[in-house]
Amino acid sequence: MAWFSASNQSKALRFCVWWTVMAYAVFYVIAWMFSWSIMNYFLSENLQTVFFIWAIFLSLVGFYDIRQKKHGILRNYPVIGHFRYLIESVRPEIRQYLLESDEESVPFSRVQRSLVYQRAKNLPSEQPFGSIVDVYAIGHEFLSHSLTPVSRNAPETFRINIGNAQCARPYSASIFNISAMSFGSLSANAICALNAGAKRGKFYHDTGEGSISPYHLEYGGDIVWELGSGYFGCRDEKGNFDPTQFAEKAALLNVKMIEIKLNQGAKPGHGGILPKGKITPLVAKVRGISMGQDCISPSAHSAFRTPLQLMEFVQKLRELSQGKPVGFKLCVSRPSEFMSIVKAMLQTGIYPDFIVVDGSEGGTGAAPVEFASHMGMPLREGLLLVHNTLVGAGLREHVRIGAAGKIISAFDIVRASALGADWMNSARGFLFALGCVQSMSCQNNKCPTGIATQDGERQKALDVVNKTERVYRFHRNTLLSLSEMLAAAGLAHPGDIRPEHLVVRVSEVEVQTYADRYKFLSLGELLAGADVHPFYRDAWNKASAEAFSV
Ligand SMILES: Cc1cc2nc3c(=O)[nH]c(=O)nc-3n(C[C@H](O)[C@H](O)[C@H](O)COP(=O)(O)O)c2cc1C
Repeated sequence: MAWFSASNQSKALRFCVWWTVMAYAVFYVIAWMFSWSIMNYFLSENLQTVFFIWAIFLSLVGFYDIRQKKHGILRNYPVIGHFRYLIESVRPEIRQYLLESDEESVPFSRVQRSLVYQRAKNLPSEQPFGSIVDVYAIGHEFLSHSLTPVSRNAPETFRINIGNAQCARPYSASIFNISAMSFGSLSANAICALNAGAKRGKFYHDTGEGSISPYHLEYGGDIVWELGSGYFGCRDEKGNFDPTQFAEKAALLNVKMIEIKLNQGAKPGHGGILPKGKITPLVAKVRGISMGQDCISPSAHSAFRTPLQLMEFVQKLRELSQGKPVGFKLCVSRPSEFMSIVKAMLQTGIYPDFIVVDGSEGGTGAAPVEFASHMGMPLREGLLLVHNTLVGAGLREHVRIGAAGKIISAFDIVRASALGADWMNSARGFLFALGCVQSMSCQNNKCPTGIATQDGERQKALDVVNKTERVYRFHRNTLLSLSEMLAAAGLAHPGDIRPEHLVVRVSEVEVQTYADRYKFLSLGELLAGADVHPFYRDAWNKASAEAFSV
């Protein structure tokens, strides 16, 4: 590379393109003035003129480059420096289509995406010639099959009742649903296709924190209404929770459950973000916000400040919604903070109907980079902590647990079930079903597939009828595949999956079941006090129902 660094140091070489185009422009003018015909030996007259126009344009670009102060690269490399920006702008596409390996996760691998595309299109997803996965790699996991497989159960039977004895109108949910993604973050057509797919497949569609738009209601699919800290759709002019507006919308027939969003895995401790470029008049109206500035919801709720108040809020929403199941979604933070909530359940006797655990690997429309990569507990650890704490406090039978975080295949469902989840949600899985190509442009309103944009032209590309079918098929084919796995393992329902059914390779010569790998508490262990696992005991002793953080 010595020749490259030498040329890089030479100003003549760095400026050569700019100087060459200027020289051509000057020569063209002189040749024209003196009627020289030398150029005609090399180029036709038309081509000479085209080159001249380009030469003038690039000469001006070069002058601009050396005078501007924003980009050092352009001052040092006039004209050719622009190639850097050009190539960078198409880098994700070049990488995705030409360079990325099948197993590389960015954040979903080609293998994962192809699986969703195949299922959504009803194409066969069978693997010829054997697995491409290294089954001896540390961390490799598998479900142990049975020598007495049973016959397959229909995917329609994979449902779970949500709503404990304190809930007047329990809901029977599919064990696989569309995770929270708001109108605003997603286009109207995307919301329509998701909701219509949910209706067709009898699963639910979570509104996300952007409230209930007309598109959530048009096709009649079941809705879980998510309330974030901005209380969009039920807020007063100061942004506080408004019970009257809440009761009105919660009464809608399609609204089956209410989910209080404490935070989400991709940006825990940070409010929701909707860039102003995506706030149309309708998005603003649905949310009850103004246009022209980014919509950033507060990082904490104003309707409650302590775990005890959270339980009272759960009860209040139950009453206002006339008995619909009420729960909350969170990415687990400090163990003692979650345990504070469980202590508040014990103290008040109010049990939320469900908790959705979101992993830090979860997706988002827009999040600060550090939050997305280095904050929040990953799904497996968070889920286990929530499951164990509820079991240890003797409350597990009252509270159902949902899980989200890169769950797109039947095996992902099996894994989360083994760690204690009753049902699973997927956000990006359903985006792939809609045709998402992982261009990662959800935040700039330029989604190439019309899914995560409010640009009217772009979203026209998303055909609702066609994509409804894909959403439905992805859900159905995933559950069909799950039913095959369960049958081969001798199990009837995802609820039968136990930690001992799942095996993980922990070294070159050793595998362990999840039952051996992870610590599972026994019923009421935290309350009994005596032989509690030290990690759980210490966190439990620290926790207080009076405050989240002590
Ligand atoms: C485009 C997009 C928008 C999202 N909007 C919300 C939201 O409004 N509220 C929320 O709780 N989570 C939101 N999420 C997070 C998902 O609901 C989910 O918790 C997370 O992405 C994990 O699921 P995944 O790994 O299947 O994508 C969003 C995710 C995506 C990709």
